[in-house]
Amino acid sequence: MNEQVYDKIGYWSEIKLDIIRDYAKAYSGILHAQRSLMHMYIDAFAGGGLHISKTSGGYVPGSPQNALLVEPPFAEYHLIDLDKRKVTSLRNLTQGRTDVFIYQGDCNSILLNKVFPRVRYEDYKRALCLLDPYGLHLNWDVIFTAGQMRSIDMFLNFPVQDMNRNVLWRVPENVDLKQAGRMTAFWGDDSWRQAAYDTQRNLFGWEEKTDNQSVVDAFRERLRRVAGFRHVPEPIPMRNSQGAVVYYLFFASQKPVAENIIQHIFREYKDRGIR
Ligand SMILES: C[S@@+](CC[C@H](N)C(=O)[O-])C[C@H]1O[C@@H](n2cnc3c(N)ncnc32)[C@H](O)[C@@H]1O
Repeated sequence: MNEQVYDKIGYWSEIKLDIIRDYAKAYSGILHAQRSLMHMYIDAFAGGGLHISKTSGGYVPGSPQNALLVEPPFAEYHLIDLDKRKVTSLRNLTQGRTDVFIYQGDCNSILLNKVFPRVRYEDYKRALCLLDPYGLHLNWDVIFTAGQMRSIDMFLNFPVQDMNRNVLWRVPENVDLKQAGRMTAFWGDDSWRQAAYDTQRNLFGWEEKTDNQSVVDAFRERLRRVAGFRHVPEPIPMRNSQGAVVYYLFFASQKPVAENIIQHIFREYKDRGIR
């Protein structure tokens, strides 16, 4: 195995993988029972299919590998990654499978042009889609389209660490315009500024930075009101061993039953990363 291709992952990423695997099992079971529907799995920032655990040093199956093992199976698997070596690794791991479609390139365009058109609600297609970037590498068009299609349940990594490190500074004037542009591309417009800065808290109308929760709440509202996902439960904070939030894992769906299942799973895993 080519170890250089595989990422070393923290304990919180292992929890994320467990959460998505548990939901994928429940989702596939329910959809499989509805014979009139065809259900797919989409992994847009798929990775190489295997990781190395920082905790144990051993191999950990990545999100595509977990999905491929779900029973009952998905009808199709669409896996995308920008990194050629990771795509080669995915091809090696899935050799001989005719139900797996692998794409190398930027998932923002591949999803909109090649994958989402295969999951039309009117064609009785449904999909579980994982959007798991390292940072602000995802465009709002993808999230918006997934919501409007009504056929997609989505997990979304909300990369709060990248946001805080590069964009949501105490003095917004000091932020590089390119970095602010990445935030706007992810958010869909620049209304993130209202969520991240408050002028009401002091007598002088100065902009004061709000906290993670305000930004997360505003994005949750956007997933509902703008993208059109009917069910968006409170996301789960993924914390490192010091308790700091690395990212929030959002889930969004059109179905109340999906929200119930994920809330149950989130409760089970909440704060497991803190030791
Ligand atoms: C956090 S890792 C994915 C981990 C994987 N979901 C898992 O849990 O096993 C993010 C991946 O996104 C890929 N990536 C970064 N930008 C991308 C883009 N624009 N389109 C597709 N993949 C991208 C990276 O090469 C990396 O493998």
